[in-house]
Amino acid sequence: MYKKFLQLTKNLTVSLEKGVNFLTTHEHNPLYFHGALPLYTFWFLIFSGIMLWMYYIPTLERAWSSVNYITSLPVFLKDAAGHLVLDKNGAPIVDAVNSATGIPYGAVVRGIHRWGAAAMMITTLLHMFRVYFTDRHRSWRWLPWISGVFLLLFVLFVGITGYLLVWDARAYRMVVETQDWLRAMPLIGNWSAEFLVGGTGINDYTLTRFFFFHIGGATLLFVLVWVHFIRLHDPVVTPSRATNFLTLGFILVAAGALPAINITEQLIQQFPSLASDRAYIGSDSPAQIGVLVETMRYDAWYLFPYYLINKAGVGGAWAILGASTLLLMVAPFYPKDRRDNLAAVIEAKCTGCTFCSLDCPFEAITMQERAPGSKFKLIAVVQEARCSECGVCVGACPFQAIELPNTHSKTIEAEVLDLLKTGA
Ligand code: HEM
Ligand code: SF4
Ligand code: SF4
Repeated sequence: MYKKFLQLTKNLTVSLEKGVNFLTTHEHNPLYFHGALPLYTFWFLIFSGIMLWMYYIPTLERAWSSVNYITSLPVFLKDAAGHLVLDKNGAPIVDAVNSATGIPYGAVVRGIHRWGAAAMMITTLLHMFRVYFTDRHRSWRWLPWISGVFLLLFVLFVGITGYLLVWDARAYRMVVETQDWLRAMPLIGNWSAEFLVGGTGINDYTLTRFFFFHIGGATLLFVLVWVHFIRLHDPVVTPSRATNFLTLGFILVAAGALPAINITEQLIQQFPSLASDRAYIGSDSPAQIGVLVETMRYDAWYLFPYYLINKAGVGGAWAILGASTLLLMVAPFYPKDRRDNLAAVIEAKCTGCTFCSLDCPFEAITMQERAPGSKFKLIAVVQEARCSECGVCVGACPFQAIELPNTHSKTIEAEVLDLLKTGA
């Protein structure tokens, strides 16, 4: 039943990809670069992150204002009563003298960071569903899958800590809720809640710690990507040029149209539809004031755990997040594979030429010495645990001395040709 489901999802995915081929051609189909795209978007985050790092000040007092400085928010003229002074068209007048000089294009760089992060999560999920739906997550692929689950969790962690760095009212509320969530853990609950902020309460080290989590987590992503690739032969890590430009275009358009700025009172006056964000208003860092805001805007890609905490309570959030992670972790082991098609060497035919061993993408074939007096010096030996039943060795052997017991070499040839055609 489950296998049939996977067969169906595989057929549907391949049909979808073939459909997209009509629009983009096979060479530039973004769906064929599902693994390369999260990596590509990650580069955007690194470069825009380094630029933001130049101006970001990780202290309680300066974090919020340094982020505002980066985004060059205009300051509007106010009268003595504190009301905005409007021009004859009703638009607020910019206070040219006191306007923050800011960083040129700072809001765009911040937007690239914010939208690049969304793009990374979206492409990571797309990649995960692609490998799952095409049944490329089981058997020997358990390592890329399990390391992938960790990658997903780390991408989430880095995104969440990024939102904390802004140190606005939302960040403050996130800290309070994360601490509640952590405290619900037995034994290490209190300790981890304190570890999060670097002390018994929010203190001078809190922002430095968030910054450490954010940069440290992003660095660890590289290590995880390395683990992810250990058992992949020649992974596709660069999207086609057209796909690169398409992704770049999406991020730049989003960053230009919706730059990541902090909502201020002036902007709310300008755009009344933002009134629901009134909670973020503050003359100094709202988080500094320590008022727990009533409403919280959730970023769908990174802040859904807080939505869960608010809707299902701390225990419910633990249950939902824990169960989803567990389901992902066991996915490669179900249903149990019948490993009945491992490469087998026909001893009498093997000349010890080493071709199969050199060509095997998974280093599953070692060459061993034959007994003294044998016609040939070496023999190929398959390490069963590493064999992925791919059939490459069958094609590599000039002497038909290695085969997959349940697949005829002609079938393997046809399958490989088919895969090459669809790009799957
Ligand atoms: C930062 C996030 C990630 C990056 C940069 C990444 C990158 C890649 C790349 C480049 C490949 C090779 C794709 C190819 O050659 O066609 C790959 C394969 C794979 N990834 Fe990921 N990945 C990420 C997250 C994940 C996640 C979240 C999962 C699943 C939970 C996952 C599971 C896999 C599996 C099972 C394969 C092997 C697929 C195959 O052999 O066709 N990855 N990944
Ligand atoms: S089928 Fe052959 S080439 Fe493929 S993994 Fe097994 S031993 Fe290596
Ligand atoms: S390619 Fe064939 S003959 Fe050569 S070592 Fe491998 S199994 Fe033996």
